[in-house]
Amino acid sequence: MEKIIIDTDPGVDDAMAVLFACLSPNIELVGLTSIFGNVTTDIATRNALALLEMAGAEHIPVARGADRPLGQPAKAVAADVHGVEGFGDVPPMSPKAAPLDESAADFICRMVNTHPGEITLCPVGPFTNIALALRQDPGIAKKVKNVTVMGGSLEEGGNVTPHAEANIWQDPHAAREVFAADWPVTMVGLDVTHQVVCTPEHFAGLTDAAPKLGGFLNDAAQFYFAFHRKENGIRGCHMHDPTAVISIVRPDLFGCRDCALDVIVDGEKIGATVAATGQSGSPSKVCMDIEIDAVRDLFLDTIKTGF
Ligand code: BDR
Ligand code: CA
Repeated sequence: MEKIIIDTDPGVDDAMAVLFACLSPNIELVGLTSIFGNVTTDIATRNALALLEMAGAEHIPVARGADRPLGQPAKAVAADVHGVEGFGDVPPMSPKAAPLDESAADFICRMVNTHPGEITLCPVGPFTNIALALRQDPGIAKKVKNVTVMGGSLEEGGNVTPHAEANIWQDPHAAREVFAADWPVTMVGLDVTHQVVCTPEHFAGLTDAAPKLGGFLNDAAQFYFAFHRKENGIRGCHMHDPTAVISIVRPDLFGCRDCALDVIVDGEKIGATVAATGQSGSPSKVCMDIEIDAVRDLFLDTIKTGF
């Protein structure tokens, strides 16, 4: 059983990742921490609580994260990709539970210190909360099991600029700190997530099998499909965030390259992830190959076990 904290900006594909984690028999979801990116931190916090309530998992805590990046003004949220409220055209929900009275960084430090060697941190939004936790308690670097990030791109180019992936571009300084630290990092970036596409038919099948959870994902995905059709000419959508979570429970489905990483924090290529030169941190594992069908089927089959 993998103990995971997902740091998230829900977000259509974030919703896929969180519901996958709730339903996977191999994951103990320790908590969610919220972050700006696809939506504001306020909306991300509300949406994180709503996803857990929808899944009947309101006992899982949510800690509110940072409102802005570490080293630059906040960028606009990605309303064109995920809708103004985060789940496409699905109307906003009003979850009953409240977030913890503890910041995301405090929660991450407390959980990692309580369960040394057991927790995988999985940021699927900008890495601000992870960098803040590390600044606050550098000792957590030796106590996390792994830091598995959705973000970046080594050879695939960017998705918000020709060079930058969205989660890195939103807070390049935080990403740089996370990659430079001496802890084990696995980067699940566009090199692999651009290889996995789910079609409208795949999502329609989710509604049939699991009307509430699958139906919600299918409804939310319609807006996301429209974005992919317009921007990428794809019939379907990429599965960025669930792919990162899947890599934690099924690392055998991925081929990785050892590479120390750095992030460009200014100029035309701001937000690009590049191979580091002369860096002291441990080399990251960068996912470059993926068993496409197996990853997609694991996602779909797991959601279908829902209700
Ligand atoms: C990442 O950016 C966000 O739009 C998605 O939720 C994902 O985390 C992909 O670049
Ligand atoms: Ca995300």
